[in-house]
Amino acid sequence: MNDSDGPCHPDTQTPRHPRTALVTGGAGLIGSHIVDRALAAGWDVRILDNLQRQTHRDGKPPWVSREAEFVRGDVRNRKVWERALEGIDVVFHQAAYGGYMPEIAKFIDSNGVGTALMLETIRDRELPVRKVVVASSQAVYNEGAYRCPDDGHFYGRTRPIAQLERGDFAMHCPTCGAASAPAPTDEEAPTGGENVYAISKMVQERLAVSWGRATGIPVVALRYSCTYGPRQSLFNPYTGVIAIFCTRLANDLPPVVYEDGRQSRDLIYVEDVARANLLVANDPRADGQIFNVGTGEAAGIGDLARLLAAKLGKPIEPEIPGAFRPGEMRALISDASRIGKLGFAPRVALDEGIGRYLDWVRAQGPIAEYFGRAERMLRRRRVVKRARQ
Ligand SMILES: NC(=O)c1ccc[n+]([C@@H]2O[C@H](COP(=O)([O-])OP(=O)(O)OC[C@H]3O[C@@H](n4cnc5c(N)ncnc54)[C@H](O)[C@@H]3O)[C@@H](O)[C@H]2O)c1
Ligand SMILES: [Zn+2]
Repeated sequence: MNDSDGPCHPDTQTPRHPRTALVTGGAGLIGSHIVDRALAAGWDVRILDNLQRQTHRDGKPPWVSREAEFVRGDVRNRKVWERALEGIDVVFHQAAYGGYMPEIAKFIDSNGVGTALMLETIRDRELPVRKVVVASSQAVYNEGAYRCPDDGHFYGRTRPIAQLERGDFAMHCPTCGAASAPAPTDEEAPTGGENVYAISKMVQERLAVSWGRATGIPVVALRYSCTYGPRQSLFNPYTGVIAIFCTRLANDLPPVVYEDGRQSRDLIYVEDVARANLLVANDPRADGQIFNVGTGEAAGIGDLARLLAAKLGKPIEPEIPGAFRPGEMRALISDASRIGKLGFAPRVALDEGIGRYLDWVRAQGPIAEYFGRAERMLRRRRVVKRARQ
């Protein structure tokens, strides 16, 4: 089987892969699933995580495996990297500051400078790191790809704020102006980043990939699409649309859906993302490359809110106040055929994944709702705007 991440090559029974992993952000959603998978495959695992309070309000979460070494520290501290990287073969760099926050410096510091310190430490101390897998994001694309009925394929451009203020949320064809349908977005789509998080992830990805070319140390960048599943913070009101909608519904409040609710995203289950990480760590064909990690399926955000309400047994319609976030994409469906050629295919469909996620949510007991207050703050800072209609 091509996408095995087991410890042994099936026909030789001898370990063929490096054995020690550093998972930064290993207490978080994606990192913790990478930790579990790597442990199950026989790796020695170290976690570096600062247990950021916004994500981990109650401190170290119970899912952090005791089989892994835990280093509590901040990626913005060079000394922390020196300690964390000692004896490591492969780094899975997941720690990042995420979401739609008004801070600018903290994003660049955590995601840009934090990554730069890791790269400098490995290079300057001549550490025998054999591969760095860096968590990038679909957010590095300015927009998804689209198809005009008459003019065919094009890469979308960020919609002007004046258009969104008129309540026109569609992506228009640059040739004829027709509203166009989303199409799968490949890795050649223009990148740049239209919000601070996206810019910081772009910086992170570019730093890592170019450093890899310069040093000869293999780097792989994975551009994840929207990832969800058990362990997604129920405290952090700025990330994860499924987690946010669930905490609203659990508190008998309507999910607040931006734009007209017909914007769409590619939602991928966290275990699939973790599997993609182990796959590229074990496959030298991945070295030096950038891969989308997604399902290729579009989920409408309004439909998602209704699906979650139905599954939670709450007859609550989403609230669609016509608000929008400048710089946000209209649609992003991942074309994951490049990583597909290495043998990767997602295994958990949306319905199944949401079921598993809701089972986990129910086991967490009462859930507080942090979104309302967060949204008021984002309006004040103009991260969220309202259409004039
Ligand atoms: N979840 C998604 O939808 C998604 C999509 C695309 C990309 N990503 C990327 O995947 C990675 C993991 O995201 P996640 O969803 O698991 O997020 P998460 O918030 O669940 O986990 C991130 C972890 O990093 C830790 N962390 C944050 N800042 C840190 C710092 N300065 N020093 C040390 N640790 C720090 C946090 O405590 C947390 O445990 C991130 O790089 C993120 O940008 C996530
Ligand atoms: Zn057209």
